[in-house]
Amino acid sequence: MTMKHLVSINELSPKDILRILDRAELFEQDPNRDLLRGRVVATLFFEPSTRTRLSFETAVNRLGGRIIGFSDAATSSSSKGETLKDTISMVGGYADLIIMRHYLEGAARYASEVSRVPIVNAGDGANQHPSQTLLDLYSIRKTQGTLYDRTIVLVGDLKYGRTVHSLLVGMSHFRPRFIFVAPDELRMPQEYLDFCRNHGIPYEETRAFDREVIDRADILYMTRVQRERFVDLEEYERVKNIYELTNDMLSTSRDNLRVLHPLPRVGEIAQDVDDNPKAYFIQQARNGLYTRQSIICEVLGLEVH
Ligand code: CP
Repeated sequence: MTMKHLVSINELSPKDILRILDRAELFEQDPNRDLLRGRVVATLFFEPSTRTRLSFETAVNRLGGRIIGFSDAATSSSSKGETLKDTISMVGGYADLIIMRHYLEGAARYASEVSRVPIVNAGDGANQHPSQTLLDLYSIRKTQGTLYDRTIVLVGDLKYGRTVHSLLVGMSHFRPRFIFVAPDELRMPQEYLDFCRNHGIPYEETRAFDREVIDRADILYMTRVQRERFVDLEEYERVKNIYELTNDMLSTSRDNLRVLHPLPRVGEIAQDVDDNPKAYFIQQARNGLYTRQSIICEVLGLEVH
């Protein structure tokens, strides 16, 4: 049997996605299941994280497994110049599964090629964040009752935001319509526009973030401008506060609209949105626990009943 990794959302069929979401529902009903007894999971985070690392580690703990790893690469031997290949080879000798976030695009793919244990991509540069996408899909299905025929408005940093790239691909199986809201500097990259065209997915691009756009949305997906990806920090300063969602902007939105954000937020969603029943980003992050439990079972081939 070939080893299963989760490197890119592109590798999952709609059937795979739905199986992972269905299993996550079982974990939402009961997250405490002793499925990882005797197993060790490594979390290697070469970039900062709150939600992804802690929800994966909570997932392992609630499944009865044990955790090793680092949350700061400066404390690992990569700071002495150890190659990623050597780090992955070493850790694969200690753990049954490696969950890795890395600042380089393609690092997860490379790790999967040299690893003796499954690799889960917890984000690689501006490329992909597949476990985030699966929890986003879980959140969309849970709030909308379906994944099909939704209008998704993606707002903010569509150039560097790996979550929107993965979400676009993940939703492509379910007849979405997209509206991309971004300044010129942060437009959705051409390869994803081409992907939409090649898959017959309707999309629009606009710079204007206003009620006219919000009122057409089923899902309003806000994103942070990714300071850490800018080469030119003056450009970051120009665009960092470009959009802010405030509560009054939601007043004429659809009843089923939900506001999602992968978090952390740094000003894209005003605090006065938090108490609006359409704000779903805190529950969305919580859904990450159930979805990541399901992902761990998927790559390790564990049955859940
Ligand atoms: N959404 C997300 O990846 O959050 P963290 O960077 O806190 O893990």
